Amino acid sequence: MQIELLTRFVEQKIIFNQLQLSITNTGMIDAGINVNMEIDPSINRDGSILDYCRLKDITIQPWSPFQFGFFEGVFLDNEKFPELNQKINAIAAAKGVANTAIAIAWILRHPARMQPIVGTTNPDRLKAMCRASDISLTRQEWYEIYLAAGNKLP
Ligand SMILES: NC(=O)c1ccc[n+]([C@@H]2O[C@H](COP(=O)([O-])OP(=O)(O)OC[C@H]3O[C@@H](n4cnc5c(N)ncnc54)[C@H](OP(=O)(O)O)[C@@H]3O)[C@@H](O)[C@H]2O)c1
Repeated sequence: MQIELLTRFVEQKIIFNQLQLSITNTGMIDAGINVNMEIDPSINRDGSILDYCRLKDITIQPWSPFQFGFFEGVFLDNEKFPELNQKINAIAAAKGVANTAIAIAWILRHPARMQPIVGTTNPDRLKAMCRASDISLTRQEWYEIYLAAGNKLP
């Protein structure tokens, strides 16, 4: 509704929306998967922003694609996320890319055709992440990563 309101007062078409999204920060996806259930992930905290942006052809640009919490740190190679890293590393090894590429490929696989914004200052890391464009996760892999991050499916 805030975007609807904004469009009343700006002349430009709104074509991008930067939102927080990473494998460990999936609120806008969880709400749709768990809709109409009496569990916390079903709570719609963002006014269905993911569905809204897709319907209005607004490209979502996920920020902090490697961070967990609110800038608490990187989840890759982090001992707080053993199951997730095991899963990501196994898929990365099978596809011959770095774990960073899998974290980005997971976002790219979503049908919303999102454009992740990465914050690295390390050129080698950036090159490794770009390999995400050369691979595609299967649905099975996408959901396995989602579950390994501690999410549940109804
Ligand atoms: N619109 C908004 O509200 C909003 C909010 C927040 C951010 N943003 C934008 O989004 C951009 C990205 O956010 P972010 O910087 O939090 O994203 P990020 O890509 O998730 O995090 C990047 C940071 O993590 C570090 N890092 C450590 N290990 C890493 C690894 N294995 N893989 C990748 N990074 C690793 C990087 O250090 P190295 O440099 O050493 O690689 C860098 O400091 C920001 O620069 C900003 O422009 C927008």
